[in-house]
Amino acid sequence: MAHMNRIMLIQYLIDKNGYSTYLEIGSQRGESLLPIKCRKKIAVDPCFLLKNKDKLKACFQNYTNFNNKYFEMTSDDFFLNRKSFLNNLGKLEIVFIDGLHTFSASLKDALNSLEYLDDNGTIVMHDCFPPHKAAATKGDNAAEVISRKHTIKGWTGEWCGDTWKTIVYLKHKYSSQLDIQVLNNDYGIGIIKYKIDTILDLNIDYDLVNKIDKLNYEDLINKPQEMISLVDEIKYENY
Ligand SMILES: C[S@@+](CC[C@H](N)C(=O)[O-])C[C@H]1O[C@@H](n2cnc3c(N)ncnc32)[C@H](O)[C@@H]1O
Repeated sequence: MAHMNRIMLIQYLIDKNGYSTYLEIGSQRGESLLPIKCRKKIAVDPCFLLKNKDKLKACFQNYTNFNNKYFEMTSDDFFLNRKSFLNNLGKLEIVFIDGLHTFSASLKDALNSLEYLDDNGTIVMHDCFPPHKAAATKGDNAAEVISRKHTIKGWTGEWCGDTWKTIVYLKHKYSSQLDIQVLNNDYGIGIIKYKIDTILDLNIDYDLVNKIDKLNYEDLINKPQEMISLVDEIKYENY
C-alpha cells in the first residue's frame, strides 16, 4: 500500500472501522467526495465546482451519493451556524480536511472537527507535507497566492500553504491525547486519532500559534519526523 493516496486511505479507514458518517471540508469538483463509499457524506465548500449533472451521474456510479448533503458555505460558517444539524447527526466518524490551506483556517477546522469526532473516529488532513518551498507559500487563499505566482520562485501550480503548522500545533498541545502521523504520500496525509478516551481543551493557545507561525519551510524539511511525525508507511493494523 506504498502509494496509497488520500481517497484510498479514507476508504480503507471507512471499511476497516465500519464508519458511516463522513464530513469533507473542501470538495471542489468532488474528486475525493464522489468516489468514496460511506452511508452519510456531508460536504462543505463555499464554492463547489460541481454541476447537478455531475452529482446525478455520481449517484449511479456510487449509490451512497444519493444521501449526500451539500453545504455551500465556509467551514467556519458551517460549524458556527449548523450546530443543530451536527448534533442531530451524531458523532463524526471520519473528517477529511482539505479546505483553506492556511494555518489559521486548518487549525480551526481541526479543532471544530475534534469537538464532534467520535472516540474511535479519525481526522485525515491533506497537504501536510508540501513538495517544495513554492507550494508552501503563505497566503490568504488559493486565488490570492495564484495572483502572485510570477513572484514565487519555483511555482508549479501546486499549493499546500502552511497547513503543516496545524500538525505541529496539535502534536505540541495534545502530545499525550492524540496520535498523529503524516503519511509521506499525496502531498502529505495527516492522520489524527484519539489515543485515549479524553476531553480536550479546544481553546486556541495563541502563544503556541505565534511561536509555530514563525517556523518556515526549511524547519519542516530539515526535521520532518520531529515536526510532523512524517512516515513513509503507516502500520495499518493500528488504524
Ligand atoms: C484543494 S480543493 C479540495 C479538493 C478535494 N478535496 C479533492 O481532494 O479533490 C480546496 C477547496 O476548499 C474550498 N475552500 C476554500 N476556503 C474554504 C473554507 N473556508 N471552508 C471550506 N472550504 C473552503 C475551495 O473552494 C476549494 O474547492
